[in-house]
Amino acid sequence: MNLVIIGFGGMGSYHAECLQKFAEEKAEHTLTLAGIYDIDPARVEFARQKGIRAYASPEEIWADKSVGAVLIATPNELHAPYAAAAAAAGKNIICEKPIGLSSAQAEQMYAAAEKAGVLFEVHQNRRWDDDYLTVRNIVARGDIGDVYKIESRVVGCNGIPGDWRKEKARGGGMMLDWGVHLIDQMLQMVDSRVASLYCDYSYIYGEEVDDGCDLLVNFENGVQYRVVVATDCFRRLPRWMVYGIDGTAVIEDWDLSGGMTRVLEREDKNLVGIRAGNGFTRTMAQRSHSSVEQLPLPVVHAEPFAFYKNFAAACAGAEKPAIRKEEVLRVYRLMEAAERSARDNAVIKEKI
Ligand SMILES: NC(=O)c1ccc[n+]([C@@H]2O[C@H](COP(=O)([O-])OP(=O)(O)OC[C@H]3O[C@@H](n4cnc5c(N)ncnc54)[C@H](O)[C@@H]3O)[C@@H](O)[C@H]2O)c1
Repeated sequence: MNLVIIGFGGMGSYHAECLQKFAEEKAEHTLTLAGIYDIDPARVEFARQKGIRAYASPEEIWADKSVGAVLIATPNELHAPYAAAAAAAGKNIICEKPIGLSSAQAEQMYAAAEKAGVLFEVHQNRRWDDDYLTVRNIVARGDIGDVYKIESRVVGCNGIPGDWRKEKARGGGMMLDWGVHLIDQMLQMVDSRVASLYCDYSYIYGEEVDDGCDLLVNFENGVQYRVVVATDCFRRLPRWMVYGIDGTAVIEDWDLSGGMTRVLEREDKNLVGIRAGNGFTRTMAQRSHSSVEQLPLPVVHAEPFAFYKNFAAACAGAEKPAIRKEEVLRVYRLMEAAERSARDNAVIKEKI
């Protein structure tokens, strides 16, 4: 199926590279990059230099019968109008996250696609991140016993990137940028309804949108999950902390450095107290080596091009879309509850 990328910025050009490599795999159902469309002449020129056709207008894409799908990678406020036009033209759609600026808009986008009989799938690519799949594996294998707490954290120190991400009307803010990924991962990971949540947004840079968030979710099954997004932290913090009743796992970064420590003896008979600041503690001292063991992470690598493969197969009716509408709308419900919590400084007790 021929596909055109609309919005050839950072992510659009990343998609183009990936799609060109995916095409080389010659999968049974594949996607061929037919071209791009961007309003910025510099990006058009960049595409041409790479030998990629640049469409002159959206209408040229809609009218091109050889194009079966579009991938929308524009600033967020343009996702909905492009998706509506693409659906009306009968094109299948991959839309970058976040699809719409609100749950109501997201629902309208799905409704428009359903009405037009085209496939509409949001690019929740982080479901295929190796670090996330590895955490799922730790939880499923029980290496550190039943997991009761997970911290999922992404920290940067470069502020809110670019221009449009700083504007509310354009779908800016880090909750819509990174929060949406981490919340999607969380809801895929924990097989339970949300019982309550509390969220704090940060505005360190004084923009009209959040430059970070700290979200704490309590699930009905007792699991507690923390999502942290920061753009003002100049030291690396672990990407993941996973707490089980028999041990602790840490994934430091996307390079999958880290490991697991599992307890062998509940009571550490060789525990030695340490000096801590202006005092002494045994409580906070590290375990003696004999009472714990160190284990490597049970690393999982995602299947390459899994999202594109699924989308191509789903367009051909050979597979169901991996990212389902109900899942996406649940992420929106949670984001909107988090926003209310941050606004009102309140714990939200909503079954999500
Ligand atoms: N899934 C991911 O991992 C991931 C990562 C980064 C960005 N994204 C998403 O991708 C989208 C784009 O983000 P980005 O970082 O590439 O932004 P960007 O600013 O780098 O690129 C946006 C591009 O859209 C173009 N554009 C603006 N108005 C347009 C219009 N009316 N028609 C066509 N093109 C237009 C701009 O010229 C620019 O080239 C966003 O929705 C963002 O959330 C997803």
